[in-house]
Amino acid sequence: MADRPAPADDNPRPPGMPANVPATLDLARGNLLLVGTGSFNVNLLPTWALMLRKWYGCHLRVCLTYSATALVARDAIAAATKEPVWGPDWPTASGCVPHQELAGWADLVIVAPATAAFVGKCANGISDSLALSVVMSVSAPVVLAPALAEEAISRPSVQRNLRLLDEDGYHVVPPQVGTSVHSGRLGIGAMADLGSILRTAAALTAVRREPGSDSLVTSTPVNGADGHR
Ligand SMILES: Cc1cc2nc3c(=O)[nH]c(=O)nc-3n(C[C@H](O)[C@H](O)[C@H](O)COP(=O)(O)O)c2cc1C
Repeated sequence: MADRPAPADDNPRPPGMPANVPATLDLARGNLLLVGTGSFNVNLLPTWALMLRKWYGCHLRVCLTYSATALVARDAIAAATKEPVWGPDWPTASGCVPHQELAGWADLVIVAPATAAFVGKCANGISDSLALSVVMSVSAPVVLAPALAEEAISRPSVQRNLRLLDEDGYHVVPPQVGTSVHSGRLGIGAMADLGSILRTAAALTAVRREPGSDSLVTSTPVNGADGHR
């Protein structure tokens, strides 16, 4: 269980950790997989990884797409997670099947940021990278935080893909207003903030006790043909 150790004095909020981040994240084995794709804000992942490990005491792995590797330093992620970075290649030398290993390991998957390409492929069942194959193999909940160009977000195709993800049981955290790297202007389409992403995740994974029963159940019923919720 990746509950934040109490009391708070023993585990002060890491510098930079937003105040609106949930205090606990219920993960059955404490395993959180972050997937990063080729959007500017993927460079937040090393800092997020460091803060999440400290705050929730969880085990973190990160899987990157090929485009993401051009925008964030693998060494920074490895240092922050104390784990090798997964992707974009498919490492088989150790005898594992990487997408199945990662899919079986994760109690929760957060794709942040999720590009229009990732959203489109995921919505249409195109698993042409390790990251996509993991997301399409996992039975744990998947939260996606799209980062989309303002021009792209209103396109019928992009809206259709976001709807498909929702219908298939993925959990999309809507983009918000942010500064475009390209134009420098404010506009809609930026990846949601860490607090919004983690509140969505925490609501999905929250464990409650059935009245009159010792059994623990997650707050989210199983639904969706592919088991994502
Ligand atoms: C600096 C930079 C920022 C980018 N930001 C975004 C973005 O926010 N959203 C997006 O959909 N694509 C963005 N792209 C384009 C994607 O990297 C490109 O579509 C890529 O093929 C996505 O591949 P992936 O989804 O496998 O990572 C950006 C590219 C660069 C170079």
